[in-house]
Amino acid sequence: MNPASPSQSAAPGNLPATHCLFYLAPLRGVTDVIYRQTYAEHFSGIDLAVAPFVTTHAGRRIKPVHVRDLQPEENRKMPVVPQVLTKSAEDFITLADHLFEMGYGTLNLNCGCPFPQVANKGRGSGLLCDPDGLDRLLDTVLSHIPNRLSVKTRLGRHDAAEIRAIMPIFNRYPLESVIVHPRTGRQMYAGTPDLTAFEWCLATCRHPVIYNGDITDLAGFHQLEHRFESAAGWMLGRGVLANPFLPGLLKNSTTIDAALKTDRFRQFHDVLFERYRIRLSGPGHLLDRMKGLWKYFAQGFHGSENGRKRIHKARSIEQYRAAVAVFFDSGLDWMT
Ligand SMILES: Cc1cc2nc3c(=O)[nH]c(=O)nc-3n(C[C@H](O)[C@H](O)[C@H](O)COP(=O)(O)O)c2cc1C
Repeated sequence: MNPASPSQSAAPGNLPATHCLFYLAPLRGVTDVIYRQTYAEHFSGIDLAVAPFVTTHAGRRIKPVHVRDLQPEENRKMPVVPQVLTKSAEDFITLADHLFEMGYGTLNLNCGCPFPQVANKGRGSGLLCDPDGLDRLLDTVLSHIPNRLSVKTRLGRHDAAEIRAIMPIFNRYPLESVIVHPRTGRQMYAGTPDLTAFEWCLATCRHPVIYNGDITDLAGFHQLEHRFESAAGWMLGRGVLANPFLPGLLKNSTTIDAALKTDRFRQFHDVLFERYRIRLSGPGHLLDRMKGLWKYFAQGFHGSENGRKRIHKARSIEQYRAAVAVFFDSGLDWMT
């Protein structure tokens, strides 16, 4: 493998050199380029993002639409690592070359997607129940791509014991880091992360290990930080969506007055809305996207269920705007 640097003009591939990094998790359909850039303009604490996965396209040239959210000029405010979902080494290499040309010196391999339509085809968490196949994939890919590679993994597809066969494989290759979400694919998001299994991963993995899963408040984070002192970083997903101030609080102990928080959040919402209005075709798509975000946003506030329902029921942009105004004007308290 040749971990050459991409051209310096492509800033999004240049990752920060801080020791313990805070990552924004990839959430397909949510943490797209608009969310990431708008987030970076309004909040602090996130060092870099792993982008939601891009799938490979067998035997085809990469078209701009396949990597639309990864255009370097649109990704300058938050460094981003593209994530690839595939089981084909050949298709991975084609995409990796293209992304390298775009300036991405590091890629991430998705070894965690739990959805049956993905995993049943041996991709995502489906890679974890075929250690030999994963070994061959990494062997071929890493001897051909110019980019560095990290992986984002669950503990297994069916069973947490699968990671015991997988980690020695990860250890054989020059991976940049291993991000562990300590659940199995079968679990989806049910139950709690298996911290004992994560502890094993941290002790066994020879690469920097990043923890991911259910980080939603300062007290819970301190417990993780205390228990997993050697973790190289922390990845936050739903916790940031519900409370975008969380990374700033965890990383820099930044606390902000509740009213100012709501004002900032409202501005963030309004900019997101406007950017999605320009990007998405038609009010239906815009409403769907914003309502999808509110499933997470509302979780950041105490007693938000009625307000969320009102937003969810909006059938037009006017109704949506009115419901959002009621939500913000009702003075709900932040959870943390
Ligand atoms: C709607 C949704 C979409 C997701 N999309 C991706 C994805 O594209 N790639 C990936 O590796 N993980 C994906 N995940 C998993 C998250 O990155 C993360 O591992 C998971 O939400 C646990 O972290 P959290 O508890 O901080 O949210 C997704 C999760 C959700 C809920």
